[in-house]
Amino acid sequence: MASLTSALALIAPVQAGLRFPCSTLTVQRLDPVVQPGSNPSAHVHHIVGGNAFNASMTGDVGARATCTTCQMAEDFSNYWTAQLYFKHPTNGSYKRVPVVPVQPLLGGSNGASGGLTVYYTQFDLSKDNLKQQKITAFQPGFRMTVGIPTETNKPHVGLRYQCLSGNNRGAEMPDFPTKPCSGGIFTTHHFPACWDGKNLDSPDHQSHMYNTIRSDGFTNAPACPSSHPIRVPQVTYETTWDTTQFNSLWKSGDPNPFVWSFEGTSGYGTHADYMFGWKGDALQRAMDKSECFYDGCGSIKKQAMTEANKCTVKDQVGEKVGETEWLEKLPGM
Ligand SMILES: *[C@@H]1O[C@H](CO)[C@@H](O)[C@H](O)[C@H]1NC(C)=O
Ligand SMILES: *[C@@H]1O[C@H](CO)[C@@H](O)[C@H](O)[C@H]1NC(C)=O
Repeated sequence: MASLTSALALIAPVQAGLRFPCSTLTVQRLDPVVQPGSNPSAHVHHIVGGNAFNASMTGDVGARATCTTCQMAEDFSNYWTAQLYFKHPTNGSYKRVPVVPVQPLLGGSNGASGGLTVYYTQFDLSKDNLKQQKITAFQPGFRMTVGIPTETNKPHVGLRYQCLSGNNRGAEMPDFPTKPCSGGIFTTHHFPACWDGKNLDSPDHQSHMYNTIRSDGFTNAPACPSSHPIRVPQVTYETTWDTTQFNSLWKSGDPNPFVWSFEGTSGYGTHADYMFGWKGDALQRAMDKSECFYDGCGSIKKQAMTEANKCTVKDQVGEKVGETEWLEKLPGM
């Protein structure tokens, strides 16, 4: 650890907030935020986090769940995005694009199985600026989404794609890459960081939140407006979609063959869902800590990813989602 810490010191003097891996929990057609109670929901999701995940989720998730696929052992939240598929350019069949842990994950994605990396930042990647503003943790029952599946015209700030090649992540782009990416496709979903302080949800699952971010990357969120005065952690997901088995099928000059599970061929429709589920005041404890190496200075418990990987939920939909087999149509489409 000493050598890792000193190597990092060269990159940034301070690391703020939380960053940790969560293994894949399940891939199925459930969406307790947008379509609570529906089994199945409209399209397939890639889901990580606690085992209270269900078609409908109310109340204190952190009190109900008993395990989590996340490294932070008190985090029973669920995090999900649409699932990415490859659409065969000649016969139109679909296959699910596997996910692999985000690399490099300093501090260790050690043994994560698929999944995504979650961030809770206080200011930006290297500073917390707690003197400027307190960060208030979400409350039980809180949920939100970012992005709109039907969007095809306008890119959404904070929702980005990168074309991976070796250790190079390449530029952040608002839409799918236009050529095969030897290291896969990297997606980032930044959520808004200002809350109205009253509503745990809203009819569109977005208007109880306000996005002050106007540029890409882990930039500082400016002060929150009076309509949404409470500064909450800025939540971000990073996912690496392993496209290697499909890259040779993408012939030069052909259009992008990757589609989101809602038949989304425009990259602008990417979106993500968040269901808060930290146990007790664990997230607040971490957010009150200053200048830590991404883990709340030991204020919250971690578990080995081998332990996290044992956490599972039942497949409640019971349909093929294209993991190994080719599908003639996307589930639900
Ligand atoms: C999911 O919901 C069903 C129906 O309400 C319930 O029977 C089941 O116990 C729930 N599962 C979990 C893991 O909460
Ligand atoms: C499409 O091509 C794949 C790969 O060659 C094949 O496995 C699949 O069965 C084909 N689908 C149809 C509908 O022919």
